[in-house]
Amino acid sequence: MLKVAGLNAWYDRSHVVQNIAFEVRAGEIVTLMGRNGAGKTTTLRSLMGLVTKRSGSMHFNGREMLAEPAHTRFHQGLAYVPEERRIVPGLSVRENLQLGITASSNRHEMVRMIEEIATTFPRLKERLEQDATSMSGGEQQMLAIARAMMARPQMILLDEPSEGIMPLLVEEMFQLFVRMKQAGTTILLVEQNVERALRISDRAYILDQGQIVHTGTAEELLDDQAIQERYCAV
Ligand SMILES: Nc1ncnc2c1ncn2[C@@H]1O[C@H](COP(=O)(O)OP(=O)(O)OP(=O)(O)O)[C@@H](O)[C@H]1O
Ligand SMILES: [Mg+2]
Repeated sequence: MLKVAGLNAWYDRSHVVQNIAFEVRAGEIVTLMGRNGAGKTTTLRSLMGLVTKRSGSMHFNGREMLAEPAHTRFHQGLAYVPEERRIVPGLSVRENLQLGITASSNRHEMVRMIEEIATTFPRLKERLEQDATSMSGGEQQMLAIARAMMARPQMILLDEPSEGIMPLLVEEMFQLFVRMKQAGTTILLVEQNVERALRISDRAYILDQGQIVHTGTAEELLDDQAIQERYCAV
């Protein structure tokens, strides 16, 4: 579904992502791991067209998209939940969800989608009319993911969704990812919570100083304590 080759990204003269290649097949959960500053966020932002200085190739469903402007991804079925959640203050949970819907959807479709999303995210269902920013950090993260799902993406890029969230909610969130996968959404996950992420992933890539230094099945990497200690310690 996603095939990345020779991807480079720069901030000014700093060459942050260096010629990386990886792929995500339809229906997979793939984790991108690596220490702080390894270039994980920059990789996702480059794929979303949000890093201006980028080069290489990114095929999404067979179509080259790297050079295209950021907004085209949304219409092609690629969604992104950044580290910072961007929940809109002063709007309710329902209103925040409505922001995630595509312009082509009618009112009827919107109501139906909110019902569907609320079933998947029971925590939000109870809070639909509440001011979104009055929710806990973890609940706001759920809302950010739910909002991205409103557009029915084929694939979603998630940047450290479990960061700063209490363990109970983290568990709920990972179970949610499994359900999203079962419902047909392909997931590229960036996580520091390596063990937890690997347990729901099919495969993983390890990024170190802007390069992919290791890849394997989630099972292989779960067994490889040395690799985890070397590349994934915070
Ligand atoms: N907007 C920016 N301008 C300049 N340099 C940046 C910018 N954003 C990130 N960098 C630098 O690029 C490198 C990679 O950062 P990036 O945020 O991609 O890492 P990361 O793997 O996501 O780290 P973390 O685990 O801390 O989120 C770091 O050295 C960082 O300081
Ligand atoms: Mg990051």
